[in-house]
Amino acid sequence: MQYTLEEVVNHLKAQGFVFQGSEIYGGLANSWDFGPLGVELERNLKSLWWQHFITKSKYNVGLDSAILMNNNVWKASGHLGNFADPLLDCRKCKTRMRADKLIEDNYPDLNCGGWSNEQLKTFIEEKNLVCPNCGAYDFTDIRQFELMFKTNQGVLEDEKSIVYLRPETAQGIFVNFKNVQRSLRKKLPFGIGQIGKSFRNEITPGNFIFRTREFEQMELEFFYDPNEETDWFEYWVKEVTKFLNLINLNPKNYLFCNHEANELAHYAKHTIDVEYKFPFGTGELWGIADRGDFDLRQHSITSKQDLSYLNQETNEKILPHVIEPSVGVGRLMLAILYDAYYVEQVGDNDSRIVLKLSPLLAPYQLAVIPLSKQLNEVAYQLYEKLLNQFQCTYDETGNIGKRYRRQDAIGTPFCVTFDFESLEDQKVTVRNRDTMVQERIAIANLEEHFQALLK
Ligand code: GAP
Repeated sequence: MQYTLEEVVNHLKAQGFVFQGSEIYGGLANSWDFGPLGVELERNLKSLWWQHFITKSKYNVGLDSAILMNNNVWKASGHLGNFADPLLDCRKCKTRMRADKLIEDNYPDLNCGGWSNEQLKTFIEEKNLVCPNCGAYDFTDIRQFELMFKTNQGVLEDEKSIVYLRPETAQGIFVNFKNVQRSLRKKLPFGIGQIGKSFRNEITPGNFIFRTREFEQMELEFFYDPNEETDWFEYWVKEVTKFLNLINLNPKNYLFCNHEANELAHYAKHTIDVEYKFPFGTGELWGIADRGDFDLRQHSITSKQDLSYLNQETNEKILPHVIEPSVGVGRLMLAILYDAYYVEQVGDNDSRIVLKLSPLLAPYQLAVIPLSKQLNEVAYQLYEKLLNQFQCTYDETGNIGKRYRRQDAIGTPFCVTFDFESLEDQKVTVRNRDTMVQERIAIANLEEHFQALLK
């Protein structure tokens, strides 16, 4: 990848996409706030995901479940007990790190996701791996570090009042499987999707918004009859690919990786990850997992409720199997912004930063620009008109060249310039962000013109 993380982050901060969380107090480690432009991009992305996976899908429906859930949910799902990272400390400099990351950073071709503490310890000893911070070889034993955030519900702060912030949105879907199926009289196959915050007390958060402790997920749990012929896993891999094409992610920058059996999460039978080539290394972007009947089975056992599905044609009761495509909103935004960021030479002596965002995602689709102060009023009227139909901004400060550059830098696909001739011929200049080509379009046809372009 051509551009460094720092370069892109600086640009995004300067342009109002992302700010450091609690910045005026020195920040809070690895917390980020989306600024006015970031939040528009985020909302566009979530709305596209919702349309693609929920409203325009003939199978799926949506849900918005609570973040705090009964602790038995986490016992059943295996998160209490299983959802932990192998942690070790350097005795010399006190740096805390993940044992599996220490190995993978030294041996990038290895994936030790499923290794036991014993295997990790032996490998570190055999290869004499040292602390990345101080170079010492003096580690504590490896212990499991619980990743779920704890808090207390109610006035008492005792063991009984402990509740957890959800580490994935998926469990809210599983515990509502029967509610959704019954109330909507859904027949298999069908999916339930939701977008919402998840929390993980990650040991090594970082790389900007790639790994944070508070993040948002877009998850779909697709329930089907395992006796069915259709390869639903393949179907959802294709749907994820279609979505990546829809948002214009460059296929050269991502790949599909099959997880080996020893790298699977405790609930998964088969997983394919979409991995993106970030500048700090290739990393998971979107996980597509075959969860089998793990979750419904576990919740049936723990809740003692019958979560099976009655096939009315065969009169047979089955426990549906699940395919889960799951992606982090912030992580996908990072990939999108990387993909879109270009520094382009313009002529011999000039350059421009341009975010080549899909018009479906860009914070603004159009910018209305009056060529001169004397045209501010008429141009502003045009802006107000276009605002009814498009995500639109208005820019009247600085020379025209600077204003074009400003819109390029935030990814606005089209600038609409109102000049003196516009008063005569009732046409405006429409400038294309990527090609910089300009054309005259009749004001009366503008809405139709952009509707066709932005479809
Ligand atoms: N329900 C399955 C599940 O949560 P996961 O692989 O742990 O699986 C799914 O997470 C996706 O959520 C990841 O592919 C990633 O995009 C996003 N994600 C996970 N942990 C994250 C974190 N700490 N910060 C940002 N995004 C995260």
